[in-house]
Amino acid sequence: MKAEGRPIGVFDSGVGGLSVLRALRSRLPHEHFIYVADQAHVPYGARPLEEVRAFAVGIARYLLTQRAKAVVVACNTASAAALQHLRAMFADTPFVGMEPAVKPAAETTRSGVVGVLATPATFQGALYASVVERFARGTRLLECTCEGLVQEIEAGRTTGLRARAILTAALRPMLAKGMDTVVLGCTHYPFAIPLIEEIVGEGVRVIDPAPAIARQTERVLAARDALCQEDTPGKVAFYTTGEHPERTSGVMSRLLGEKVTVHRLHWEGKTLRPLP
Ligand code: DGL
Repeated sequence: MKAEGRPIGVFDSGVGGLSVLRALRSRLPHEHFIYVADQAHVPYGARPLEEVRAFAVGIARYLLTQRAKAVVVACNTASAAALQHLRAMFADTPFVGMEPAVKPAAETTRSGVVGVLATPATFQGALYASVVERFARGTRLLECTCEGLVQEIEAGRTTGLRARAILTAALRPMLAKGMDTVVLGCTHYPFAIPLIEEIVGEGVRVIDPAPAIARQTERVLAARDALCQEDTPGKVAFYTTGEHPERTSGVMSRLLGEKVTVHRLHWEGKTLRPLP
């Protein structure tokens, strides 16, 4: 099968990667996608990086059995834990990963104070350290893990009282220190952008990296001559490793604003399989 007709694999610990899938579909509307939400293990952010790496390898293997022509690691935590490893392990497949968008933030901040919202594992990873080292010298970075926010978004409560309390507690002290830019370093958080914008007000730029990731995916596929040449709309197959695909279908439908049916995969040891 020629690469161009094959799907692009996209995965996250849960529904967060849909913020990236949304941008991918808008940039590459003719491509087919397979989306895997590893809800058996969500949240990834408080887990050791080695554990997240093993999940990422299992999901990537599954996506490759589905003939994925590229894999987008739509999760900052999994990218921090596994991106280099995945590229070395599956050298024939291009992997596009996430890193907190500290570079564009450092380039455009006027106050020199930037807030970064990401999971504990992302902050611990070498990827974040390298981005900070390369691009943020001279910029003051204020970091916050927004504990509990991933769970709120997993439940579809993007504007609820708890999400508001978590974000207010994170962002108000940053504003008081002069922050004029917020980097969303977790793919769940863009679903809370309306709330974030309400809290930070108009003078603060909120950076969602998803459009940049979509452009990068397009570049990677174009360089391999692997972009889909069809002119019909692409299809998306949605999977969860969680136990409640009907609940996930409801949350994903709400987040994407369209009816989505989610199917179940299950972990057999380190291997991901469809339910018979
Ligand atoms: N959406 C993920 C990220 O970008 C993971 C959140 C989590 O599972 O803790 O980091």
